[in-house]
Amino acid sequence: GRPLKGEITIAGAKNAALPILCAALLTAEPVTLRNLPDLQDVRTILKILAQMGLKVTFPNPDDRSVVVLDGSDIHTPEASYELVKTMRASILVLGPLLARFGRAKVSLPGGCAIGARPVDQHIKGLKAMGADIHISHGYIEASFGEQKKALQGAKILTDMITVTGTENLLMAAVLADGQTILENAAREPEVTDLAELLIKMGANISGLGTDRLVIQGVKSLHGAQHAIIADRIETGTFMCAAAIMGQTGADLMLKNARPDTMEMVIDKLKDAGLQIALGKDWIHVVMNQRPKAVSFKTSEYPAFPTDMQAQFMAMNAIAQGASRVTETIFENRFMHVQELNRLGAQIVIEGNTAMTEGVDELSGATVMATDLRASASLVIAGLAASGETLVDRIYHLDRGYDRMEKKLAAVGAQIARVK
Ligand code: EPU
Repeated sequence: GRPLKGEITIAGAKNAALPILCAALLTAEPVTLRNLPDLQDVRTILKILAQMGLKVTFPNPDDRSVVVLDGSDIHTPEASYELVKTMRASILVLGPLLARFGRAKVSLPGGCAIGARPVDQHIKGLKAMGADIHISHGYIEASFGEQKKALQGAKILTDMITVTGTENLLMAAVLADGQTILENAAREPEVTDLAELLIKMGANISGLGTDRLVIQGVKSLHGAQHAIIADRIETGTFMCAAAIMGQTGADLMLKNARPDTMEMVIDKLKDAGLQIALGKDWIHVVMNQRPKAVSFKTSEYPAFPTDMQAQFMAMNAIAQGASRVTETIFENRFMHVQELNRLGAQIVIEGNTAMTEGVDELSGATVMATDLRASASLVIAGLAASGETLVDRIYHLDRGYDRMEKKLAAVGAQIARVK
């Protein structure tokens, strides 16, 4: 119930950082990254890369936003179950390892709280490029055999649009022999950010930002420097935090943002009554009324992102009016609904649609985080709820938000991390 006022600096995007860190496997020369977010998932991928022999250096130990990666001595192109089970995005090492070393052994990711999330399309694409792939003892074992010197360029049409699938195949294709065409490619800004780094490393890629990426393989890649794109989901999460505080008031300046990557979210928040002004790398939001309920359907970029669905649902919970939210990307991404209902929300699920009847007030309670974006939605709901809300299992939050509670506390929220 505290007004939010002040500035928040947005971190680099988790979902760009993860593939970009893996791209350092593609070269023996150093890759320097700036704007790296300090997240549990980033630490996990760095641990996996370090186990393979990648040298990870933070030139200024107090600043974890700049990192230098040196892949000149990769001795074990393998990712173990122990780490992959903690983060599915670890599968992103498969494409680059195979492309550069001719072999890779990566644990097959298991089940996930938000959906089945198989990686069959990653495997289908690599097979189309000539890779031999076997799954045994829970591991994906991939190689391109003794005779071949590289993966072969291919035309690949994935059955559905997949973000990490596109990224894995893109990283494999940059070192393949000949041309690869990725049809039905994901157009997410994080894919484009990865492609931009790969181009700086010497890759030949065209069609950035479209659903058709054309890659002309090169023999080797060199080192490069790159600043990771701003996190559009973190930005959207703070915009939702402002919107939900409508009746108490919110005035937030979000710096280091990339509003051009979040058109749909901005449009929907305008519909909700959030006043939005923006420049090239900033967004100023003001809210001084109860939000209006907004309906939407999640879909691939540039449509409404599934990673913002839970945060909008928290806002809809206390908005004026009723809303319908349909989740089309993941089959089980409504686990925050029961927790929001514990705070007094009135949300009913029917199939992949959640219907919310906005209530006048939420009341604080103890709730349980179940996945990353669900945790963020509960924190936002807690800001608006009367009394105290305790969000349990916030390790989910730490996977993808860089010091969220500190950023919120700095703009006036009464929030603290408790052991
Ligand atoms: N799919 C398959 N087979 C595949 C690949 C995907 O059936 O081989 C299905 C998935 O099960 C899902 C759909 O295709 O139903 C789309 O999945 P996608 O592969 O695009 O998801 P992802 O690459 O595993 C990334 C983000 C997610 C984000 C989704 C959708 C990263 C590291 N993760 O996951 O981020 O929700 O795209 O935009 O980029 C998050 O940050 O909280 C998060 C979950």
